[in-house]
Amino acid sequence: APDLSKVAEAIAAHRDQPGALLPLLHAVQDALGYVPSEAVPMIARALDLSRAEVHGVISYYHFFRSEPPGRQVVQICRAEACQACGAEELLAHAERVLGCARHGTRADGAVTLEPVYCLGLCASSPAVQIGAKLHARVTPERLEQLLAESLT
Ligand code: FES
Repeated sequence: APDLSKVAEAIAAHRDQPGALLPLLHAVQDALGYVPSEAVPMIARALDLSRAEVHGVISYYHFFRSEPPGRQVVQICRAEACQACGAEELLAHAERVLGCARHGTRADGAVTLEPVYCLGLCASSPAVQIGAKLHARVTPERLEQLLAESLT
């Protein structure tokens, strides 16, 4: 079960700031790796919003996860510069190699695959982040190598 004391801490830290919802959700995801469904009514109550409003924001921003992530998170940039350098093909390749759909976590919990919007390496596209590590100019072959190294 998620540690809801972390949610209470995030609420206490952010509830009085204007536009608290997004920073609060970020704080919860930073602390727990995702925003558990149990957090939604707590946040709604604290900010005087409906549960549907909180849920709507979580599902609008793909960045927020409602489920715990896999042990490794693979992010593939699909913003403009990377798109122009084959990001879409790279993402499709990752789905095949990993056996995991974008925005999804593989059934064995080993990996989560996330399309993201700009990793700040636009001059060296396409860019990929695996865990905390950034990789530039990633070809499909290089991606396979990186995945084999990081998903052990
Ligand atoms: Fe991909 Fe910026 S567009 S890193």
